[in-house]
Amino acid sequence: MKNIAIFASGAGSNARKIIDHFRHSGLAKVTLILSNKAEAGIFRIAEEEQIPAVLIDKEAFFRGDRYVKLLQDAKTDLVVLAGFLWKVPANLIAAFPGHIINIHPALLPKFGGKGMYGHFVHEAVLAAGETESGITIHYVNEKYDDGGVILQERCAISPDDTPETLARKVQVLEHQWFPLIVERLLTSES
Ligand code: GRF
Repeated sequence: MKNIAIFASGAGSNARKIIDHFRHSGLAKVTLILSNKAEAGIFRIAEEEQIPAVLIDKEAFFRGDRYVKLLQDAKTDLVVLAGFLWKVPANLIAAFPGHIINIHPALLPKFGGKGMYGHFVHEAVLAAGETESGITIHYVNEKYDDGGVILQERCAISPDDTPETLARKVQVLEHQWFPLIVERLLTSES
């Protein structure tokens, strides 16, 4: 059985999909949830699912090995960033080489980088007059939204799309693909 740790800062809808996907799989389960936001919806999900959840201390996250140790003690096989808004420190990346992935709600390398999250992404995509958007699932390195791409999936943009309608189209792709890619990565290495 593989152990998945999820980092999330927001509502946690992607985390929810991953938890549900593996619930009866016998292959893996979400064993740890970490968030930098006390009021994040992810904590309610963790409580409902009885998954240990940790509020991250900023100082300890960026200096020292507290969270590396926590993830190692939990025998984490894959770290999944699902709407996590802090940059991952170098020591954590070094401790899990090739085993930290992120999902971004646009087609990288466009519309990524610091400050490009949530509605800011969809607003920028529409302002640029793009005819398509989508999702990028990628490995995490020390820069925002920069690691090797694992999967991109696309959706068409129509002239009447707003940031909200585009966000919904992209979210459908996220929920459809993220759990499958997590599964693919976990099975390809066993
Ligand atoms: C998703 O759009 C993800 O791509 C982005 O943050 C959002 C998280 O949504 N990085 P949720 O918290 O999983 O609902």
